[in-house]
Amino acid sequence: MTSTTDDATFHDRMLSLGLARVAEQAALASAPLVGRGDEKAADQAAVNAMREQLNLMDIAGVVVIGEGERDEAPMLFIGEEVGTGKGPGVDIALDPLEGTTLTAKDMPNALTVIAMGPRGSMLHAPDTYMEKLAVGPGYEDNVVTLDMSPRERVEALAKAKGCTPADITVCILERPRHETMIAEVRDTGASIRLITDGDVAGVMHCAEAEITGIDMYMGSGGAPEGVLAAAALKCMGGQIFCRLLFRNDDEKARAAKAGITDLDRIYTRDELVTQDVIFAATGVTGGTLLPAVKREPGWIETTTLLMRSKTGSVRRMSYRTPLSS
Ligand code: FBP
Repeated sequence: MTSTTDDATFHDRMLSLGLARVAEQAALASAPLVGRGDEKAADQAAVNAMREQLNLMDIAGVVVIGEGERDEAPMLFIGEEVGTGKGPGVDIALDPLEGTTLTAKDMPNALTVIAMGPRGSMLHAPDTYMEKLAVGPGYEDNVVTLDMSPRERVEALAKAKGCTPADITVCILERPRHETMIAEVRDTGASIRLITDGDVAGVMHCAEAEITGIDMYMGSGGAPEGVLAAAALKCMGGQIFCRLLFRNDDEKARAAKAGITDLDRIYTRDELVTQDVIFAATGVTGGTLLPAVKREPGWIETTTLLMRSKTGSVRRMSYRTPLSS
């Protein structure tokens, strides 16, 4: 799809409210499914609403991080063109419901997430795993690195923060594959906030350490979520380092299809997201980042984090709308 207006510039300021609406509508659609034990239904509701709302925007958008490959996902698949076509050409990374299980079980920090930038601004990450390491703003570049052991990372961060390892809190996804890492971090004396899902939120917690209590995120999770987390940190400040992980040749082929040739490359935040982007996330279930969708007699309310990397602006916007019946 090519842009059909003269105005092909990425006006991040003008587009940001539209992006917030997309995240809000996805959250409103999945909210009735919170705690209902049906992950698929919750995800589908968010996907439908996000797609419908995106298609109202005056953009010539292409989904670069989406619900999966074209043959696996009927909607919001990688390469799907979205928007009216009457506007700037943009790349879109999205996760209509980040934390489908969190939603189904009514557990904290399920979010609807979307980032938008000029064409070519975000890594076309394949649907594989990715090793991730993140810290918030205020530290020297490379204060921690993927090549350090978990122990070295905790000790380096504690030194930079001017505290002991016991004063550091690390967020890690609770998975059998992380058992050794968890044991090594515990051995330093650091505290661990284990999360059952939702590593985009896990990484974002580092950017507001004084509120969330989390200093560092580490561990492996979805590569698409890694790009979304990098987009968030580009707006909020902080560092993230990522390396793709491959379990088989099929996954390597996915990377090749996405144009990735160096399979061992470590990506920094600004290599994952190379230009200024806008980012919106709406809380579905309540958590440390955002409150849940709130339903009262007669109206319903969402809270959305809306951010622009160009200015570093972070808005928490509440949106209230009357219930139709
Ligand atoms: P879904 O919302 O698709 O269920 O993903 C949640 C999530 O926890 C991500 O945040 C994370 O990157 C990934 O799953 C981890 O994958 P796995 O569950 O295979 O360890």
